[in-house]
Amino acid sequence: MEKHGLNKILWAERQMPVLFKIREKFKRERPFDGILISACLHVTSETASLVIALKEGGAEVALCASNPLSTKDDVAEALRNGYGIRVYARYGASKEEYYEHIEKALSIEPHITLDDGADLTAYLHQNFKKWGKNIKGGTEETTTGVVRLKSMAKKGVLKYPIIAVNDSQTKFLFDNRYGTGQSTIDGILRATNILIAGKNFVVCGYGWCGKGVAMRARGMGANVIVTEVDPIKALEAKMDGFEVMSMEKAAEKGDVFVTVTGDKNVIDVHHLEKMKNGVILANSGHFNVEINIEGLKNISHKVEKIRPDVERYILNNSKEVFLLAEGRLVNLAAAEGHPPEVMDMSFSNQALACEYIIKKCSELKREVYTLPSEIDREIASLKLETMGVEIDELTEEQRRYLESWEEGT
Ligand SMILES: NC(=O)c1ccc[n+]([C@@H]2O[C@H](COP(=O)([O-])OP(=O)(O)OC[C@H]3O[C@@H](n4cnc5c(N)ncnc54)[C@H](O)[C@@H]3O)[C@@H](O)[C@H]2O)c1
Repeated sequence: MEKHGLNKILWAERQMPVLFKIREKFKRERPFDGILISACLHVTSETASLVIALKEGGAEVALCASNPLSTKDDVAEALRNGYGIRVYARYGASKEEYYEHIEKALSIEPHITLDDGADLTAYLHQNFKKWGKNIKGGTEETTTGVVRLKSMAKKGVLKYPIIAVNDSQTKFLFDNRYGTGQSTIDGILRATNILIAGKNFVVCGYGWCGKGVAMRARGMGANVIVTEVDPIKALEAKMDGFEVMSMEKAAEKGDVFVTVTGDKNVIDVHHLEKMKNGVILANSGHFNVEINIEGLKNISHKVEKIRPDVERYILNNSKEVFLLAEGRLVNLAAAEGHPPEVMDMSFSNQALACEYIIKKCSELKREVYTLPSEIDREIASLKLETMGVEIDELTEEQRRYLESWEEGT
């Protein structure tokens, strides 16, 4: 198992050249000597590349999982035994274990927290006297976590500065769109082996993740239906060529449903009751709240696991509904999560955000920040370089023209 995990880590590393360059720089400069980092991330081979880079930069890292179903146990074992990193995570952990693991990761009394969904950060805030004395700053990987942390900042309860890695362009434009787009389809296929072509495929939410899922489902021949609550996003979906309708109508039409909203009860009981026989439900939003699973249980008389990531619910109206991965992130629970090529950019942002915190913590307030755009552009330039893509540079004349107002018709 450990050898398998090690091979997975080395495979991911090959597809993550930008992070590798940062890792080499960290190895030379040791920006994290004496720094303790508590990280709550999906324990995958891509995450392994990030924590190894931080360790080689001098940090001591304690890693726990940001979802009970996303841990790749072989990777966790390889990190423990091959790299000497403390990993507190297990696929299928109960809620109690999940928080025990967070406690263990926090017990090192970190200088920096790395989070994906803000569970660790929120938990540290609830126990700040116990583990918070060294804290300098933290990072947040995903949209839902950023929403939670901005709410904490607004209410004046955030106790240390956070870098919203999610809000870097080299993160959300690629990870959320192309990463979630591809890996969500991958998760659905691995769980079910269904043919996507010809299906009515409902995507709930047309944000960055929803755009990616809709784009890829269409590419595989599905008739894609989008549901939204934001009129601008709905209009965008319509003009991108998708059917747009209310969830009430989509419920009657869909064969496969994917929620990617960051919202709760997007698929609610009254929708479930209207669905066709044999529909497939999946979620790729951060928490397992987007489909009302309690409600689904309440209107069903039988639930059974029929494949590793498929549960069959038999409703009281005799129809069948198939729920994937218990309504948790389908791309991580039923597949391997985002491909390393996009995590290369997301985790380069994470790595440089940690370095930024060390350099700038004395100037940062208890707020949620975005990384400076120079860092974002530097990551994009490095990525292009590793892809062998050259682009043009503005001439001096063009630069002046673009900054001026005098020249017109
Ligand atoms: N699966 C993954 O690996 C992965 C990767 C990145 C982000 N995420 C998560 O996916 C979720 C979406 O992220 P995003 O970056 O696309 O966010 P986003 O803010 O760009 O988009 C969310 C969209 O959902 C819409 N929405 C909200 N409530 C709705 C409802 N009731 N019905 C229909 N639409 C609704 C919003 O109007 C918005 O357009 C978040 O929870 C995020 O943390 C998951």
